[in-house]
Amino acid sequence: MKTVNTIDALRHTVSTWRCRGERIAFVPTMGNLHDGHLALIDEAKKQADRTVASIFVNPLQFGEGEDFETYPRTMAEDSSQLASRGVDLLFAPSVEVMYPQTRQQQTRVEVPDVSHILDGEFRPGFFVGVATVVCKLFNMVQPDIAVFGEKDFQQLHIIRRMVKDLQMPIEIAASPTVRESDGLAMSSRNSYLDAQQRKTAPLIYRSLLQAAGEIERGEDDYAQLERVATATLEDAGFVVDYFTLRNTETLNPVNAGESNLVILTAARLGQTRLIDNIVISQ
Ligand code: PAJ
Repeated sequence: MKTVNTIDALRHTVSTWRCRGERIAFVPTMGNLHDGHLALIDEAKKQADRTVASIFVNPLQFGEGEDFETYPRTMAEDSSQLASRGVDLLFAPSVEVMYPQTRQQQTRVEVPDVSHILDGEFRPGFFVGVATVVCKLFNMVQPDIAVFGEKDFQQLHIIRRMVKDLQMPIEIAASPTVRESDGLAMSSRNSYLDAQQRKTAPLIYRSLLQAAGEIERGEDDYAQLERVATATLEDAGFVVDYFTLRNTETLNPVNAGESNLVILTAARLGQTRLIDNIVISQ
């Protein structure tokens, strides 16, 4: 695996592949890789001749007081995992390479409405930071296909919208959420949990499964389901930002009897914010 840190070196390597007619897949990450990230790499490799991964902890998507400084950075380990998984090229730029201008001067990409609900409401500026960096990375790599995790359901939705609205000739593929054996969705932020919190954390997925099961058995009082799940999580010590049923296509709230449902939740244990979701099979 080759590693490059500059846009010129990245473009040089990718363009030799493109000249040969090879199909290029891209997996953007912030590093501290786990099996969830590696599943995206496996998917990318299935879908293309060449796989490019990036590792960049993007300051633009962290708010005041969030964990940009302390976000786990494990480049040496990440790099060997990517190499053994068969990644062809790792792009690991510095903040100066990605943002040579000041933060205020950076042109931003904003997908309206949906960037400001759910996680966007609790993390103002987050999705503008995500869309902006992913747009820049797409312009640098110019992949045929990019792979994202369903774990970040709203992020995936926003990237799909950006690509559609800006006519980017890039296919977006989704890869299912990879979980620990007790159901907790893998996340770089799980390492912030202490032993007690780690024991409590899988209740998020159990609550999603419980609510999804009831809907699949015909329950249609969604507000009541949301209240019960929120109370269960709060009783266990979570601070719940939201536990809500939405339409998979729009992320808007749903009425009884609607189909295409997803339950999305974000809940905090101490300082650690965890998100998860489940799509209802109907
Ligand atoms: P990061 O949190 O590193 O995640 C990179 C990719 O891995 C995302 O597409 C995310 O959805 C996916 N992922 C994370 N945990 C997963 C899991 N348990 N199962 C399946 N996929 C999982 O998401 C970001 O970085 C950033 O916002 C980024 C898109 C790189 C822009 O900075």
